[in-house]
Order: sequence, then C-alpha cells, then structure tokens
Amino acid sequence: MKVNIVSRSGREFIKGGLELNDSATVADLQEAIHKRTKKFYPSRQRLTLPVQPGSKERPVVLHYKKSLKEYSDGNQNTLTVVFKDLGPQVSYRTLFFFEYLGPLLLYPVFYYFPVYQFFGYKGERVIHPVQTYALYYWCFHYFKRIMETFFVHRFSHATSPLSNVFRNCAYYWTFGSYIAYYVNHPLYTPVSDLQMKIGFGFGIVCQLANFYCHIILKNLRSADGSGGYQIPRGFLFNIVTCANYTTEIYQWLGFNIATQTVAGYVFLVVATSIMTNWALAKHRRLRKVFP
Ligand SMILES: NC(=O)c1ccc[n+]([C@@H]2O[C@H](COP(=O)([O-])OP(=O)(O)OC[C@H]3O[C@@H](n4cnc5c(N)ncnc54)[C@H](OP(=O)(O)O)[C@@H]3O)[C@@H](O)[C@H]2O)c1
Repeated sequence: MKVNIVSRSGREFIKGGLELNDSATVADLQEAIHKRTKKFYPSRQRLTLPVQPGSKERPVVLHYKKSLKEYSDGNQNTLTVVFKDLGPQVSYRTLFFFEYLGPLLLYPVFYYFPVYQFFGYKGERVIHPVQTYALYYWCFHYFKRIMETFFVHRFSHATSPLSNVFRNCAYYWTFGSYIAYYVNHPLYTPVSDLQMKIGFGFGIVCQLANFYCHIILKNLRSADGSGGYQIPRGFLFNIVTCANYTTEIYQWLGFNIATQTVAGYVFLVVATSIMTNWALAKHRRLRKVFP
C-alpha cells in the first residue's frame, strides 16, 4: 500500500510517500516515518485523515493499533494521511514523578531548616505536635503517589508534551512551598487537639480509600496497559464515577481541618475545581464509550 504523508498545509512531508505491505498497521506507518525522519518518534506524531478545505469537521485521528486498510475507504492501494508534530513527549510516569518529587523534598526543608531567618524571624522556633504530624502526613501522601505511579497505575500508551512537566511542576512545587511555609511558620497557631485528631484521622482513612480506588482502577487493565477504558465498579465507584478524585479531595480536607491555613484551603479549592472538571470529562467519555 502506498501512503502519502502531507503536512497540515498540504505539502508533501515525506518525498515520494512510503510503501508498506497491505497488512500494515498505523503503528507500522509511524515506525516507518520515524525511520525516515529520525526526529519524529511515534508518540510525537499525530496522524489524521485529510478533511475538505473549509470543513468544520474534526479530522479522524488514526489509532496506532488499527490496520491502514480500515482507513483507506475502498481505495485499497493508496492512502493520504496528515502529519502533525506534537513536540517532544514524556511518559506519564516521568511527568508524575517530577510533579510529586518537588513537594516531597521541599516541605521538609521548611520543617527542618532555619529558613524563616531569611524572612526576618530571628527568635527560637517552637515546633508544635501538629506541625510534626503534618510533615509525616504530607510526606506519606507524596511518597504514596510516587509509589503508585511506578507500581500501581497501568497507564494507557498516551504521552504528555514535555512542556507539561514545567507547567505541572510549577503548580505542585509552588503550592507545596506555599503551604509548607505557613504550616511550619514560627507564628503558626495550632488548632485544638481534638480537631487535629479528627482531621488527620479522617484524612488517613481517605488516603487509604484513595489507594484502594487506585487498585480497582489498576485491575481494569492488563499489565501492559491494554484494555482501554472500562466502567470502574465496586467500593465507592458504585456511588461516584471518579471515586479516586473524591477521596483525594477529602484527604486534603482532612489535612486542612488538622492544620487550618488559608494556603491549604486555597490549594483545596484549586485542586477540587481541577479534579471536578477532569471527573466530569471522564464521566462523559465513559458514557460515550458505554452508552
Ligand atoms: N491534588 C491534586 O491536585 C491532584 C490532581 C490530580 C490527581 N491527583 C491524584 O493523583 C491520582 C492519579 O491522577 P490521574 O489524574 O492520573 O487519575 P486517573 O486518570 O483516574 O488515572 C489513574 C490510573 O487509572 C487509569 N484509569 C482511570 N480511569 C480508568 C478507566 N475508566 N478504565 C481503565 N483505566 C482507568 C488511568 O489510565 P490512563 O493512563 O489512560 O489515564 C491511570 O493509569 C488521582 O487519583 C489523585 O489521587 C491529585
């Protein structure tokens, strides 16, 4: 089969096109493009079918697992595809690891080191028990997330643009430092002992529930990440589509009940609005796949 590869402006992207055998898949085509161009490895490529000029229709994106024949529309011997460079890509594992590493390392800096001297607080710093428990809670949370990233989540084959590493790290690292600054501050006023226990107790239960939600999600796919998207069932998934986000939000609520800072609540509001949008999008996607 002859495949013509054009850029979005319609210019020929690979001179003379590529010749592939009739049983070739989109993944084979991507490998063949990579061989010819070197720079554009498969996850950097977005291949679509051409649309009529001026048409408002969304182009059909070629799925890597499908055979090229499925897209050739009766004309078995030639196919034209549009190539778009998605820019440098990283795996979701890499993205998540760097996102979470920042808060895991930065938070203890505010607890252990005399950073407040640089902000003009020269006196002796008294550490309240709640600040120590908050450190353990925080580090446990981000350590858990890194471990889940490597040993629990079964990611699809999707990758993320490299630029998202910088954007997401800015989000997590800045919020991590902002909250750490206030919770460990020498002028920090602790909440009552009972409130602290309720907050951390509730938060830990939610973290464990969140871990269990991730185990349920993991079991929806086989070990190589194949299996697509399924309807999660059981435990809290019987009540809400994205129970992992619900428990994540509530565990931050627990942390905030125990530590009570404006910074922590600002993060809770921002994180809740982000996860709510994602949850709604995931719910819509599942309804589309399983009408
Ligand atoms: N504090 C915050 O601001 C914040 C924000 C976001 C997330 N988080 C935490 O980080 C965790 C991971 O985040 P995430 O956004 O990656 O969660 P997610 O999209 O729900 O994914 C977790 C894993 O489960 C898979 N998965 C999700 N739904 C599935 C379904 N219906 N069928 C099969 N597999 C499915 C995902 O696959 P894919 O690779 O295909 O997506 C991914 O590997 C969250 O659960 C939450 O605890 C915190």
